[in-house]
Amino acid sequence: MSKLRLGVLASGTGSNFEAIAEAIASGYLDTEITILVCNRPQAAVLEKASRHGVPTAVIEHGNYRTRAEFDSAVRDCLMEHGVDLLVMAGFDRIVTKTLLEAFPDRVLNIHPALLPAFTGEAAQKQAAEYGVRIAGATVHIVDGQVDHGPIVVQAAVPAIPGEGEEALRARILAQEHLIYPFAIKLFAEGRVKVEGRKVTVRGCSDPGGQTLISPPRD
Ligand code: GAR
Repeated sequence: MSKLRLGVLASGTGSNFEAIAEAIASGYLDTEITILVCNRPQAAVLEKASRHGVPTAVIEHGNYRTRAEFDSAVRDCLMEHGVDLLVMAGFDRIVTKTLLEAFPDRVLNIHPALLPAFTGEAAQKQAAEYGVRIAGATVHIVDGQVDHGPIVVQAAVPAIPGEGEEALRARILAQEHLIYPFAIKLFAEGRVKVEGRKVTVRGCSDPGGQTLISPPRD
């Protein structure tokens, strides 16, 4: 069977991109990244891609009149590179149906919160300011609404009162780097079934009713 071909959309630092590239390099993920599309020419993710030998395309959103025109340029680039699964990793544009219809149920996003809580910008700050005891990250399938589509994988981390937003962000990010490669692996192995909002995953071990309690119970 041929390897699943990933396209990655990113705008910034690219630590999730790098976690995926490293998961491929280590053999954990049997996929290839055929193209990284970035909308910001100065983004650090571009240098990470070249270090990993991943082809890049810079498509600046500012050069397009509408979201749909930008999305069709991105879509055409992804199609040219034979992308099977599209992975948004810190991509700072809202995608439209122009792009989504080309990859039905095949666009993933990672969001640094336990959805449906704290959608949109600065999710970690929202969680810290709200005073949650448990925070986390979510990999979900992208639908027409922001941070909304069916949930594939979530990871929870305790939020420590008074630790500050930066420390919480770092602990969430460490989990992102684990669950994004894992979610992609589930797709690569054909183990994901999507029915409405519900995602079922074949062959994963049963969580066995584990709970995460924060603060820990005395
Ligand atoms: C990650 O924390 C990701 O979850 C977040 O941006 C960061 C990108 O970091 N995405 C969102 O907030 C999307 N709403 P990275 O460039 O180092 O992967």
